[in-house]
Amino acid sequence: MTHYIKVRNSGLVKLTSIDDFPDGTLLIGENLKNISFRIKRFFIIRNLYNKESIRGKHAHKKLIQVIFCINGYFTLSLDDGRCKQKILMNNPRTGVILGKMLWSTMDNFSKDCVILVLASDYYRENDYIRNYDTYRKLLNKKFS
Ligand code: TYD
Repeated sequence: MTHYIKVRNSGLVKLTSIDDFPDGTLLIGENLKNISFRIKRFFIIRNLYNKESIRGKHAHKKLIQVIFCINGYFTLSLDDGRCKQKILMNNPRTGVILGKMLWSTMDNFSKDCVILVLASDYYRENDYIRNYDTYRKLLNKKFS
């Protein structure tokens, strides 16, 4: 897991950890505290049995998400249009913010990988940019 995010519109989210060893560990996130937005939706991705699986490959126009690997590991690849970064997601305590207009891809999933995503809004297909050329064009429009 990295300690440093270099792409734009991202960052790390650290959950509060309470260690009740040997009876368990609590990981805690709170709206508008360590999670910087109001959570309207969450989803879980599991049963990642296919070694060749690639998920994501999209950006969002407005949605903000935080992604956690709560079991196992996977590789998160981020691309803000100028800068790229690969992050090995293997620490359930540390999430990565997927901000607006950030292209993200997930692969290299362990069989036991479980992913939790917290999102700032309900599911809206028209918030997705699923084509990389369209993504680059929209970015150029925004920054030119
Ligand atoms: P998608 O966001 O493309 O998955 P990933 O980014 O992990 O590759 O979603 C996969 C499918 O599930 C797509 O058909 C949309 C649907 N979906 C919903 O209906 N609601 C949701 O909240 C999410 C996240 C996806």
